[in-house]
Amino acid sequence: MPKRLIPMILCLVLGLVLALGGTMVMAEGRQITLAAPKVLTENGFLKHLLPRFTLKHRVRVAVVPNGAAADVTLAPDGAGQAVFEGAGSRWHLSSLEDSAEIQRFSDWLTSDIGLNTVEAFEGPDGLQYTRVAIEAAAEEALDLTGDAANGLAVSNLHCKRCHVVGTADRMSGINSTPSFFVLRAFPDWDERFYSFYALNPHPSFTRITDLETKLDPMHKAAIVPVDLSLEDLDDIITYVAGLEPADLGAPIQLQ
Ligand code: HEC
Repeated sequence: MPKRLIPMILCLVLGLVLALGGTMVMAEGRQITLAAPKVLTENGFLKHLLPRFTLKHRVRVAVVPNGAAADVTLAPDGAGQAVFEGAGSRWHLSSLEDSAEIQRFSDWLTSDIGLNTVEAFEGPDGLQYTRVAIEAAAEEALDLTGDAANGLAVSNLHCKRCHVVGTADRMSGINSTPSFFVLRAFPDWDERFYSFYALNPHPSFTRITDLETKLDPMHKAAIVPVDLSLEDLDDIITYVAGLEPADLGAPIQLQ
């Protein structure tokens, strides 16, 4: 490569790093507390559920012990709205107060998207939770406020190693990895992007800085970790929203 290209590339990388650094702040104070018994914590269920909500709505959920004062409570066979059931209990959601954040959480948990997330959980010994038939809240509208240009830049930086992310690189990527065009063709493409970091193979190398997610212990030092902020993820999703979905012909099955 010609010598004068090297400083140019360095500048570009530095620019990107600075741009990413600037977007890593999450709105302060948007947090609610959730009281739940140990069974939901110990089997990994809340760890599966809550980050997905936080990613989408920017509201952190701090879990406090059962019985402690909390904004919302998940309790078996208690008061409130029955939401899901499993392992012999029917889980009810209740809240003492009402705030925009609390409302968001209960709307999300009782929406199709929230309930799909509940049902996607696989606990020890094949434990699963299933929704209790309730009127699902209205489908959530996709809120695309990100910066598509930054979304492309971040995708080029972090995802292009494996995925085809844009028209300029149609011929690159890894064959067995779905391109962003293919992913965009799924009706639930946005859900897949909002939770990609929790789906294999990403956990072993991806950290969402705002959520303080830890790298999987399986992480191999040879793989450069991907550090993303929630802002970056929004930008990627805004970028992907504008892509033309691949024409898949017959429905294809991923996974
Ligand atoms: C080291 C390679 C690698 C990198 C880097 C990578 N991915 Fe992936 N990704 C994969 C593979 C492999 C799959 C297919 C997994 C499967 O189908 O089981 C996948 C699947 C996905 C899916 C579909 C998940 C689903 O619901 O099935 C999304 C969305 C996704 N990746 C987003 C991203 C984004 C965004 C980035 C960059 C921030 C990224 N990936 C970086 C390898 C990678």
